[in-house]
Amino acid sequence: MKSLVILFLLFVAVFSIVSHVNASAWQPRFDTGGLSRDIFPKGFVFGSAASAYQVEGMANKDGRGSSIWDVFVKVPGNIKNNATGEVSIDQYNHYKEDVNLMQMMNFDAYRFSISWPRIFPNGTGEVNWKGVAYYNRLIDYMLEKGITPHANLYHYDLPLALQERYGGFLSKQIVKDYADYAEFCFKTFGDRIKNWWTFNEPKVIASLGFDNGINPPNRCSKEFGNCTEGNSATEPYIAAHHLILSHAEASKRYREKYKAEQKGRVGVFTDFVWYEPLTKSKADNYAAQRARDFHIGWFLHPFVYGEYPRTMQKIVGERLPKFSKSELEIVKNSFDVLGLNHYTSYYIYDAHQPKTNVIGYQHDWNVGYAYERNGVPIGRQAHSPWIYEVPSGIYKVVTYVKERYGNPEIILSENGMDDPGNVPFPEALFDTNRVNYYTTYLKELKRAMDDGANVTGYFAWSMLDNFEWLLGYTSRFGLIYVDYNDLKRYPKMSAYWFRQMLQRKKA
Ligand code: GAL
Repeated sequence: MKSLVILFLLFVAVFSIVSHVNASAWQPRFDTGGLSRDIFPKGFVFGSAASAYQVEGMANKDGRGSSIWDVFVKVPGNIKNNATGEVSIDQYNHYKEDVNLMQMMNFDAYRFSISWPRIFPNGTGEVNWKGVAYYNRLIDYMLEKGITPHANLYHYDLPLALQERYGGFLSKQIVKDYADYAEFCFKTFGDRIKNWWTFNEPKVIASLGFDNGINPPNRCSKEFGNCTEGNSATEPYIAAHHLILSHAEASKRYREKYKAEQKGRVGVFTDFVWYEPLTKSKADNYAAQRARDFHIGWFLHPFVYGEYPRTMQKIVGERLPKFSKSELEIVKNSFDVLGLNHYTSYYIYDAHQPKTNVIGYQHDWNVGYAYERNGVPIGRQAHSPWIYEVPSGIYKVVTYVKERYGNPEIILSENGMDDPGNVPFPEALFDTNRVNYYTTYLKELKRAMDDGANVTGYFAWSMLDNFEWLLGYTSRFGLIYVDYNDLKRYPKMSAYWFRQMLQRKKA
């Protein structure tokens, strides 16, 4: 058996090298578990995803300004092995090769992000035309190869200048500056981009940036993390409020000035974990519902119902900002399509926090997390300790959003798992766990669609191994393996699995 595996690995390795040159040369046969493009509705979009700082490289080149991540990664100890995204996998120079690989995998679309400081190095004002030229090259090449671009305007990389000028998302000034940047992109790229996304994971931006401060701008109360400044009781809510308003203002401008002519649409990527009550008790059921409200309701309630969830209003009270009447007019119904990033599920139990002076966003949830029930783990753990593989979770998040938020059009905008960064080559290509993850999650997604969820697309995270934030290069999420020494790309087994699953019938 072992020798068979070794033989297969060699086979994969050799063919990966060959297919690197001629990607259409080879296709192993897989059991796709009954999945194929044909069982999804006509026009259903399959794509892969990545973000600017994680893949582009050229961080200090061609006129790009710094973002809050550029300074954060330079502080020793912040990132595993003190890695940075300065070079990363250099998609800036390898974009053609990467788009060719998307085509090889039979994907229809690519979800990429535009780096705000590459366009406006100071956040506002002067434009870096070299940055504009790069995105033009990327977009044009995607279209040439039949890959539909989905452009995300913000994936954590706030221009450092705006953080320094007025505290970034803590100031209302961000709403106008963000909308100006978004509008510049609509005007410049909107003749070719029809799918605009305003923010990736506003919940993560607000909580990891301002509640426990593990991400830049690294702010929190001292009880909740290792920050020099911040206030976990108020700042996450203020940042989230301004994120909501920024999304709404950008969406309004698109609708008023560009939509009629460009005929595109605007959405937002919200992340959502499935929270399952640990026991059948009423208290745990309420706790799981609180977790859902504090996680995704924080954003979807204002967008759909024009107010924060009642649970949040009750618990957070005066610390929760309020929308003015005119703000509500633009916040409500401000997305055309909803992105859902989903990876994992947890058990939740009721855990009322003692009344103390120590208050913070996560503290306000009044819940505890569990990862097993009666000694049975909730799922297999991926390399990232926060990812437990629970396929039924994708069914539940999609169905929850369908039922609770009026069955909006949903694109499942991120889904995936990681292996450790140091699995030796070529074993790393033999990613059976990833193939299993995608097979089981996609089947559950299809089941949710069969039960009435309006899902029109699916994006795998990630297209290639890349800079995985705090984990640096010690985590590999890619369908394509990247050798960080010479930046060569090698399709993993999962890449070939998608290629087969997405094969188009000859007309
Ligand atoms: C998402 C994030 C991505 C990626 C992924 C895996 O939350 O949008 O940038 O890092 O998680 O951790």
